[in-house]
Amino acid sequence: MADTAVLGVQWGDEGKGKIVDFLAKDADWVVRFQGGTNAGHTVLVKGKKHILHLIPSGIIHGGKKCIIGNGVVVDPPELLKEMDTLRKEGIEVEGRLFVSERAHVIMPYHKKLDALSEKLKGSKQIGTTLRGIGPAYSDKMARGGIRMQDLLRPQRLREKLEEALKVKNLLIGEFFGEEGYDLEGLYQEVLSWSKGLKVYICNTHSLIRRLVDSGASILFEGAQGAMLDIDHGTYPYVTSSSTTVGGVFTGAGVPPSTVDRIIGISKAYTTRVGGGPFPTELDGEEGQMLRERGGEYGATTGRPRRCGWLDLVALRYAAWIDGLTEVAITKLDVLDAMDRIKVCVAYDIEGERTQEMPGDLELFSKAKPVYETFPGWRGKVRGVTGWQDLPSQAKEYLEYLEEFLGVPIGMVSTGPDREETIVR
Ligand code: GDP
Ligand code: IMO
Ligand code: MG
Repeated sequence: MADTAVLGVQWGDEGKGKIVDFLAKDADWVVRFQGGTNAGHTVLVKGKKHILHLIPSGIIHGGKKCIIGNGVVVDPPELLKEMDTLRKEGIEVEGRLFVSERAHVIMPYHKKLDALSEKLKGSKQIGTTLRGIGPAYSDKMARGGIRMQDLLRPQRLREKLEEALKVKNLLIGEFFGEEGYDLEGLYQEVLSWSKGLKVYICNTHSLIRRLVDSGASILFEGAQGAMLDIDHGTYPYVTSSSTTVGGVFTGAGVPPSTVDRIIGISKAYTTRVGGGPFPTELDGEEGQMLRERGGEYGATTGRPRRCGWLDLVALRYAAWIDGLTEVAITKLDVLDAMDRIKVCVAYDIEGERTQEMPGDLELFSKAKPVYETFPGWRGKVRGVTGWQDLPSQAKEYLEYLEEFLGVPIGMVSTGPDREETIVR
């Protein structure tokens, strides 16, 4: 199998976990390259549900090995918890998971600052997952971050924590008026994480290089989606990492030539969690139907997801940035309930029709969707595993999407279980 990247091309929760799990059978290694515990990837195998936040979804397949790359931000206690859950499910992690020594650590003060700065924003809240993602990536970029390798160097760890707390305690204590952190207490807490993690932390750069050179088959598992990308998404209502294809190369440390199959995952409709504009959002009964039928409640925070029709303008924008070679459409079965299905093919912005994604959020907030309408197929897609067995209306819908996007649809997901998948 060619090395493959699986990327979300909407606002996250497209079903990346399901598709990665499906494809992992043909891969040797699965690599996460960005994001952190903000991600929630659900894998359903024969009715058994697994939710992964940091560990690549490939771990569910016995025999596959996994890497948490340098571009990920790691919350060590959460990682330990996730390992524990997997072990209880009979999935061994030791010897199968490798964590980059360069990956940055989400510290308790990052989570506190995430919450405090959201509160400060009032009505302009981003609606983050409160997992400390923004503050951790900020520290990385400002060159004040703690890295996984620091957990293995007590003296250096202490010095770095002392340095960090000078600023954090000033901010948390003086500005926000909350209780800061005691150096000794925090140092001991962080050291206690090291015990359980030291066997996993390594130089994943040389590991990946050996894998690539030896021709191993690697699957790169994206988190979030293109519209949440720090550069290309709906800034500031985005996450703090590169969720588009460039993130694979910086976040795993591989050259672009490594990846020749780039699969964009999109639902057959759209969802979004948190704040920010969403032109095709449905407030009424149809939106409620999508939410209930699609089980659209966050895998990480349990928040109800905002639901709407598929936005092809946004999708085509993402497809180009990611250089998609293929699209996988998930949750087609959710549309089984619909009498009619709409897709957004252009925006009307201040009376002007456009198919371009505005870079100015104020303009994007004014975008009114221009729709194409398709007839529904009522109850015939759930669990279908062959393209030829799809109802003709569903095939017409999918063929319209691929023509609009200029990218072939290679896979269709017709249910949450691994088996409920069409490979075209
Ligand atoms: P991810 O973050 O992209 O991995 O997606 P999530 O796991 O957060 O959300 C996708 C949800 O949809 C999960 O509950 C999946 O089990 C479920 N799911 C994935 N594919 C399908 C599908 O084709 N049909 C249905 N009904 N559910 C699906
Ligand atoms: P997966 O990998 C959906 C959203 C949050 C918020 C914004 C910023 O499961 O698709 P953050 O905590 O990252 O600072 O939050 O991004 N968000 C996601 N939405 N799926 C995700 O991950 C998300 N990760 C972050 O809701 O709007
Ligand atoms: Mg998710």
